Amino acid sequence: MYLNKVRICSSRLAAAPTHFVRSITVNSTAVEVEEGTAQLKSWREIPGPSSLPLLGSLQHFIPGGMFHNLNGIDFTHKLYQNYGPIVKVDGMIGMNMLIFLFDAESVSQILRSENWMPIRSGFPSLEYYRKYYKKSKDHEQKPTGLVTEHLQPWREFRSAVNPVMLQPKIIKLYTTAIDQVAQDMVASLSKHFIQQAMEELKTNKGKSSNEKGVLEKLMDINEQFAYIMASDLLFGGVDTAANTMTATLYLLATHPEKQQKLREELLSKSEKKPYLKACIKESMRVMPVVSGNTRRTTKEYNILGYHIPKDMEIVFSHQEMSLMEQYYPRPKEYIPERWVADKDDPLYHGNAHPFAHSPFGFGVRMCIGRRIAELEVETFLARVVENFNVEWFGPPPKVVQTALNYVKGPFNFVFKDI
Ligand code: HEM
Repeated sequence: MYLNKVRICSSRLAAAPTHFVRSITVNSTAVEVEEGTAQLKSWREIPGPSSLPLLGSLQHFIPGGMFHNLNGIDFTHKLYQNYGPIVKVDGMIGMNMLIFLFDAESVSQILRSENWMPIRSGFPSLEYYRKYYKKSKDHEQKPTGLVTEHLQPWREFRSAVNPVMLQPKIIKLYTTAIDQVAQDMVASLSKHFIQQAMEELKTNKGKSSNEKGVLEKLMDINEQFAYIMASDLLFGGVDTAANTMTATLYLLATHPEKQQKLREELLSKSEKKPYLKACIKESMRVMPVVSGNTRRTTKEYNILGYHIPKDMEIVFSHQEMSLMEQYYPRPKEYIPERWVADKDDPLYHGNAHPFAHSPFGFGVRMCIGRRIAELEVETFLARVVENFNVEWFGPPPKVVQTALNYVKGPFNFVFKDI
């Protein structure tokens, strides 16, 4: 059980807070966090599971170990319960050491400071494949995409695609298409289909409107960037949106009164749909598809009294923080109302620390597909709930965490005509 006092010292390190005292609750115990005069401790002293030379923390993950067979969310929950708001987990056999943060204020300290050319590692195999394996075959020095590039190459690529990907006017062009296209068709797309789509765009076949869409605009800027971006969009955009839809539909199916309230809003045909957005936001808080985010530090920090040097891998455990009472009252309940509540309502979402919940990430590196994802999920849900009464039978679905949180079948939905 974590019960220690956490000290934050005055320091000249990046973004170090000065002169404040605050309280962190761990295991229902208020832990005082205060500015003090104590020396900053080394990152080596950050609490966490024990570690062996070379093997790192492997012993805890094999049979008999405390993390053996734990699902991702149970693993991070146990870290927090056992060690508190900052936890060090040594890498296993050559892997990087990770520092987990469960304190929204500390998360904001790092995310705000890393906001220029942030490094988000986290897909080492994909990075290796794209940068070394594939490149040595291609003999070409081209950027590998947003997910796998960092620093200046990432910045150049992102600056080129940002104006297209984040422009609501361009994304809105897809409203009709998204309305028609089924998710499993999207999932079956492959490189072959991308090439075919590129050819069609070049020859103007398959164009549904005179306005230029995302790929066409990207091709105007740089054809190679358009091609690379297309595979990043598939990598980052299919399972994320699909699982968010499944989770939201499940939560609505098991909360019929919320579903009915949403249906009334949809059938009223009013242009603004705040409750639809609230249902999705709340689903992303309670059953997020992305459990957290990461940054590799590019400078030194003073975090909760520990000196964090450059080149450390930090994990922001948003899923755990999103379900903490100190941030969201009645945290485990599905209450879309909190996203539309007035300021004087205790449920008002604005009372939570803004960095407790961050489903699309933060800053210049935040999700580039956010607008597309929102359009997809809103369109799909609206269509389903307008037309069917959705029910769920049997036990809740299993959520398995790998790179994402996957809602696993069987999908026990019942769709009844209204
Ligand atoms: C509900 C759906 C989605 C969620 C929850 C989600 C979440 C995220 C998060 C948390 C990040 C990391 C941001 C950061 O480091 O600060 C990210 C990055 C990214 N996402 Fe999404 N995403 C979703 C849908 C999509 C879609 C639909 C696409 C593409 C059409 C997409 C493409 C990307 C790409 C390319 C990146 C890397 C951006 C960069 O490093 O510059 N995502 N996403």
